Amino acid sequence: MKKIRFGIIGGGLMGREFASAAARWSHLLDLDIQPEIIAVCSRSPQSFSWFTTHFPAIRQTTLNYHELLANPQVEAVYVAVPHHLHQEIYTAAIAVGKHLVGEKPFGIDLPACQAILSCMRAHPGVFVRCSSHWAFYPGAQRIANLLEKGAFGRIIEANCGFLHSSDLDPERPINWKRMVEFNGVYGCLGDLGMHVLHLPLRAGWRLKNVRAILMDIVKERPDGHGGRVPCKTWDNATLFCETTEPASGEPFPLTLKTSRIAPGQKNTWYVEIYGTRASARYSTAEPKGLDFLNYTGGEQVWGRLQTGYETPFKTITGANFEFGFTDGFLQMWAACLYEFGHGQPLRQFAGCVTAEEAAFSHRLFTAALESHRDSRVVDIPG
Ligand SMILES: NC(=O)c1ccc[n+]([C@@H]2O[C@H](COP(=O)([O-])OP(=O)(O)OC[C@H]3O[C@@H](n4cnc5c(N)ncnc54)[C@H](O)[C@@H]3O)[C@@H](O)[C@H]2O)c1
Repeated sequence: MKKIRFGIIGGGLMGREFASAAARWSHLLDLDIQPEIIAVCSRSPQSFSWFTTHFPAIRQTTLNYHELLANPQVEAVYVAVPHHLHQEIYTAAIAVGKHLVGEKPFGIDLPACQAILSCMRAHPGVFVRCSSHWAFYPGAQRIANLLEKGAFGRIIEANCGFLHSSDLDPERPINWKRMVEFNGVYGCLGDLGMHVLHLPLRAGWRLKNVRAILMDIVKERPDGHGGRVPCKTWDNATLFCETTEPASGEPFPLTLKTSRIAPGQKNTWYVEIYGTRASARYSTAEPKGLDFLNYTGGEQVWGRLQTGYETPFKTITGANFEFGFTDGFLQMWAACLYEFGHGQPLRQFAGCVTAEEAAFSHRLFTAALESHRDSRVVDIPG
């Protein structure tokens, strides 16, 4: 088993999710490559003890990411920090030759993302991917298989979204994810948009233009110190995109939704595709159920099948069992390391988001901001 020695920069929610996935690597079968976490960098020293308690291979903890990047033992880094730091830390990592998995949105805005891509092009030997894992859910993978086979016929309409509701509570204190200076002007689009675009971009769909409606619903929040501060990030975004599919070149409407305030929803990712020959709907709100309609003439009947633990990368879990968030994250990491080790993804839809796909998301989000501001349709640069 080949080991890739990783450093983690950002020891918060996602830094620990990656460490936990690495600790569960034995869950995966048939992989010839494995991450080993040997260094952690965070801004708060309190976060180190969880890592050092559970990961005996960690030999470096530091508050300064430059020190971690200077560690010659570290071959690759996972960087999960607030968005305003993406450009600075991602480019620093690439420039010293560390392979990088960076969290979305992959730069706080379009210029930041473009700077990361320029740095990447100047260092072509460095492997770079963007984290996004919802497309690894078995229901999403079933839809991906149908797309690969061209089973939908001509696509009539598609909808993808990611819905939260925790921000419905106006008393929820503000944090960096609700502050423009740390999260960015995209607001909910930067936080949730890459996840929503993952499948459409992998399918090769071409998004030509966008009409966006953005909403700032909760305009101020508690500051956590007894006062209130303005909350200027976009809470919800609906993007209506004229899209073409590669096979036919025919246009269809693609609606993308990213909501932090979708009453009743809790981290719900969904995809719906309606076609002339088949249609399918999948939502993580009911993670096993896949709705499917196969049209061969006559009556049109929706059926529901239960997906199991059917994953691109085999695991010890039997196909009959249930799948969840941490399983998707583990599959994404398996895909990432597989692609690193083999030079190509296992399958079209079993690959990690590329930097170019992340860059497209920035062009779309930037066009969406313009569209909302001017109340008009805006072309998305290709
Ligand atoms: N893939 C997903 O499902 C998912 C979910 C949540 C967040 N994210 C993304 O992950 C990234 C991090 O989000 P999070 O929820 O883990 O945030 P978090 O606030 O939980 O953690 C951020 C960490 O970054 C550290 N940090 C801040 N400045 C630093 C610096 N200069 N050097 C080193 N460390 C520093 C903080 O100490 C903290 O530990 C963001 O890009 C976010 O969009 C992805």
